[in-house]
Amino acid sequence: MNRFVIALLATVLASVAGATSVFSPARPPALPLAVKSPYLSTWLAAGSDGGNGGYLAGEWPIFWAGQITGWAGMIRVDGSAYTWMGLPGTTTVNQTSYEYTSTKSIFTMNVDNKVEMNITFLSPITPTDLKRQSLIFSYVNVEVGSLDGDAHDVQLYADISAEWVSGDRTATASWSYGVTDNGVAYHKVNRQTQLAFSEVSDQGEWGEWFWATDRSDGFTFQSGEDVTVRGAFTANGTLGDSQDADYRAISTEWPVFAFAHDLGSVDSSVGVLFSIGLAQNDAAQYEGNSSSSTIQPSLWTSYFSTGPEALDFFHNDYETSYSLSTDLDDQIATDSIAAAGQDYLTITSLTVRQAFGATQLCGTTDNMYLFMKEISSDGNMNTVDVIFPAHPIFQYTNPELLNLLLKPLFEIQESGNYPNTYAMHDIGSSYPNATGHPTGNDEAMPLEECGNMVIMALAYAQKASNDDYLDDHYTILNQWTAYLVEEAIYPANQISTDDFAGSLANQTNLALKGIIGIEAMAVISNLTDHSKNAANYTSIAHNYIDRWQVLGVAQDANPPHATLAYGSNNTHGLLYNLYADRELNLNLVPQSVYDMQSTFYPTAELKFGVPLDTRHNYTKSDWEMFTAAIASTSTRDMFMKDLASWISETPTNYAMTDLYDAISGDYPTNIFIARPVMGGAFALLLLNQSS
Ligand SMILES: *[C@@H]1O[C@H](CO)[C@@H](O)[C@H](O)[C@H]1NC(C)=O
Ligand SMILES: *[C@@H]1O[C@H](CO)[C@@H](O)[C@H](O)[C@H]1NC(C)=O
Ligand SMILES: *[C@@H]1O[C@H](CO)[C@@H](O)[C@H](O)[C@H]1NC(C)=O
Ligand SMILES: *[C@@H]1O[C@H](CO)[C@@H](O)[C@H](O)[C@H]1NC(C)=O
Ligand SMILES: *[C@@H]1O[C@H](CO)[C@@H](O)[C@H](O)[C@H]1NC(C)=O
Ligand SMILES: *[C@@H]1O[C@H](CO)[C@@H](O)[C@H](O)[C@H]1NC(C)=O
Ligand SMILES: *[C@@H]1O[C@H](CO)[C@@H](O)[C@H](O)[C@H]1NC(C)=O
Ligand SMILES: *[C@@H]1O[C@H](CO)[C@@H](O)[C@H](O)[C@H]1NC(C)=O
Ligand SMILES: *[C@@H]1O[C@H](CO)[C@@H](O)[C@H](O)[C@H]1NC(C)=O
Ligand SMILES: *[C@@H]1O[C@H](CO)[C@@H](O)[C@H](O)[C@H]1NC(C)=O
Repeated sequence: MNRFVIALLATVLASVAGATSVFSPARPPALPLAVKSPYLSTWLAAGSDGGNGGYLAGEWPIFWAGQITGWAGMIRVDGSAYTWMGLPGTTTVNQTSYEYTSTKSIFTMNVDNKVEMNITFLSPITPTDLKRQSLIFSYVNVEVGSLDGDAHDVQLYADISAEWVSGDRTATASWSYGVTDNGVAYHKVNRQTQLAFSEVSDQGEWGEWFWATDRSDGFTFQSGEDVTVRGAFTANGTLGDSQDADYRAISTEWPVFAFAHDLGSVDSSVGVLFSIGLAQNDAAQYEGNSSSSTIQPSLWTSYFSTGPEALDFFHNDYETSYSLSTDLDDQIATDSIAAAGQDYLTITSLTVRQAFGATQLCGTTDNMYLFMKEISSDGNMNTVDVIFPAHPIFQYTNPELLNLLLKPLFEIQESGNYPNTYAMHDIGSSYPNATGHPTGNDEAMPLEECGNMVIMALAYAQKASNDDYLDDHYTILNQWTAYLVEEAIYPANQISTDDFAGSLANQTNLALKGIIGIEAMAVISNLTDHSKNAANYTSIAHNYIDRWQVLGVAQDANPPHATLAYGSNNTHGLLYNLYADRELNLNLVPQSVYDMQSTFYPTAELKFGVPLDTRHNYTKSDWEMFTAAIASTSTRDMFMKDLASWISETPTNYAMTDLYDAISGDYPTNIFIARPVMGGAFALLLLNQSS
């Protein structure tokens, strides 16, 4: 079967049928379905670049990188079969609404005016409950009820294909069926030849996938070729309770793994719960402070001895998990509305699964790590200038998560496994291999990363009230600050975090980061009884910031503004590094600089925001949110409104990009997808929380 052709046909048909759904608070570029880790990351493409507008039925769900992760849902009502998810071939149900919260995607379907379905995709996020957060699983809860008051004969079906288990469609999958001690029926599917710590098209090539539901009355299961299994349900409403033992390539007679529930005669609402997830005992390789890499387990293995045991807990935990996630949804909603209104909530609530979904808790309860993948840009691990833009969401939800992200960076550098005196860029070039850079050949972003490390160390210590942390890391923080003292005022020609925009000397915004870093170190020195260093650093920082205001500001421009680079008075950029001055409560930079920028940004506004800098018309949504967080109310609201409109109107079709053309709303040459940096949307929430 040529799935690509079928996908195109179905997109057309869906619009011909004229089904129209309400989307609230917005129709995002891609709808998060099961998004929990770098490898459990399935979305529904919506934007017109390749998506169908946000309809669950009629298009296959995709892995963040774009390849299909076959996931089909069907329902039979009074003997007629319909599709509610994916593209298995039957008539599609009519979607009437889609709503997202921070942790949920909720669809409402109308089936021939007879039956209503509420389908909730919950990817639970529990930032302070690390046992639950460590599980790489996600729920689909389907509620079915009568729409017309009559009772209807209903059967519900859902399957996954083997596409979930490998990015190589010619790889052989193997599978089995089982039931846990507490009655959870599951299909276990995996790559037959496990390739530990390897990726193909960014999918993980090892571990066991579980697709599960309750073994309740009227339940049947089957594995086998897609057309056979789906055909059995369409014809009979039940499956054969049988397994296809012919382990084969993912794309050879596409094996699927299905469940059906005969709900009998339905008048009032009944629910069926499914769980999907990945169990990898070993999650990552980590150099740590030794010279040879050691294998890091997934943190969930500290709480559960096997995949089925973890699944059993997860599936039976739905009520608690739902309620904890709803608490987080509500907190973010209340705080976002209070901070800047609905546009802000439209943004923050879309970023939560994306930011957390780039991370995984690893190690043991005694010695854990939070590993992060720099999704889509290059797959680096715990990249400092990716943690930095993302860090507001971790600080806001649980500052210990920031500590766990920074921990491997400190360990590698403090144990002497990195030769440069400036801070390293990442702990490994290819997630999940944190093999470090013992020869110091990482992507050099010296000023950026020294500033980021010092700023984030103080940010965490302030938020967690943990001065010992600063004591523990004082020596290396001091080493990085010496680099800042040398380099910050006249930054050499180098790249900043916005490396795609090219390198440049004397970058105004980069200098500002370094100067703020020096003042942060003055505060750190005070907190750790190094008062001589405190006096030295604060005097340097004040001297630099006075000079910076002459070097980096186009005073004669109308209105005046910070430049992109010293002396280039007709250039400008988002001065997002100013955020750290406010976050750390330093008051190093005069209020007049904040006011100047607030007055300036509206004069550079394009349709969907303010460009990152004068070199291009594209912008970065993470940095826009940093900039908005410290702007005047009206300028802040301008940023919020533009980004919220972009979410609804962008033609981009993958998980929220942080880089887009501010005129067309489309991708520029670089396509960034699903990156954790969108945790920066929490910049304003974090400031409000600390005050
Ligand atoms: C969907 O809505 C269209 C237009 O109202 C209608 O013709 C069609 O029968 C509906 N399909 C289902 C499955 O409800
Ligand atoms: C679907 O959700 C709506 C809103 O919560 C509710 O009123 C309705 O009863 C639900 N339908 C079913 C079938 O559970
Ligand atoms: C990680 O390292 C292993 C060797 O230890 C290798 O097989 C694997 O391909 C690497 N993974 C990535 C994503 O580069
Ligand atoms: C429907 O069920 C009957 C009886 O079990 C079986 O013989 C038949 O093959 C099934 N139909 C399909 C399409 O699987
Ligand atoms: C290495 O790291 C481990 C785990 O953080 C720690 O317990 C140990 O003390 C460290 N050893 C050295 C030599 O730094
Ligand atoms: C101030 O700090 C810089 C950078 O570490 C150092 O070179 C200089 O000697 C210090 N000055 C004093 C007076 O401590
Ligand atoms: C940076 O700016 C200073 C002062 O304008 C100038 O002397 C220096 O040459 C610039 N550096 C570079 C690398 O262009
Ligand atoms: C350090 O502490 C001294 C004495 O309390 C204070 O005067 C100074 O402002 C502090 N410096 C910073 C950077 O906080
Ligand atoms: C830029 O503007 C400043 C005053 O705002 C002025 O001193 C400087 O000469 C200007 N630089 C150039 C290259 O025009
Ligand atoms: C921005 O877009 C406008 C309109 O298409 C174009 O004229 C201009 O050259 C672009 N600017 C940059 C920096 O690419």
